Amino acid sequence: MDVIEAIRSRKSMRGYKLEPVPKEILREILEVAMRTPSTLNTQPWEITVVTGKALDEIKAENIVKLNAGIPPQPETPFKPYEGKYRQRQVELAIDLFKLMGITREDKAKRAEWLARGFYFFGAPATIIISLDKSLIGSDPNLLDIGAITQTICLAALKYGLGTCINDQGISYPEVIRKYTSIPQSKQMIICIAIGYPDWDFPANKLISKREPVDSVTTWCGDL
Ligand SMILES: Cc1cc2nc3c(=O)[nH]c(=O)nc-3n(C[C@H](O)[C@H](O)[C@H](O)COP(=O)(O)O)c2cc1C
Repeated sequence: MDVIEAIRSRKSMRGYKLEPVPKEILREILEVAMRTPSTLNTQPWEITVVTGKALDEIKAENIVKLNAGIPPQPETPFKPYEGKYRQRQVELAIDLFKLMGITREDKAKRAEWLARGFYFFGAPATIIISLDKSLIGSDPNLLDIGAITQTICLAALKYGLGTCINDQGISYPEVIRKYTSIPQSKQMIICIAIGYPDWDFPANKLISKREPVDSVTTWCGDL
């Protein structure tokens, strides 16, 4: 698969087979991802791979908290979106709900859908990427985390793996810390659910929309 094909074919997978991902494969993906560029080569990423029993426990506890109505409190929250950004968020939800056969009024199915992110969409592994708290406030280092996140997602394709970048899974940081060795000195930025995609899962058929290049690009100079 060439690089353009990989970029075009990557998409968020929100349904997975139970089959575990061998550790050697996860290691190979992370090994190549170490080539990701970073601000002044600071390589600020701290990576935690969670699988097996630890992940099962996290999934279960996340769901208990969610069902108890405890508000998720991600360490790296995003602001509520407005305007065109909100509109794109809504369009994504409409497209996903349509594929999943979820109507606006169906509260039970909507809640079921929301919960999926909290159990990593059924993926057998998750890769959590954290940043040392001394680097929080250094925006370029957050870009570095974004860069390695995409690198991991692209590298995963070579092994027939799907991914879903998400913050839902790490939205109860105390649950994650209970089952991993992530210290308080590190801030969890994002995680990547990873596994073999269930190609029959309806939401996995989505090709999410994009703006045309010309609506986001300004050309300057003589070309
Ligand atoms: C920083 C970040 C956080 C995300 N968090 C979630 C999430 O919590 N749940 C989810 O279902 N998708 C999440 N996504 C996936 C986006 O919804 C997805 O990338 C976007 O809709 C574009 O679709 P595509 O990945 O299929 O191209 C996240 C993506 C990014 C980059």
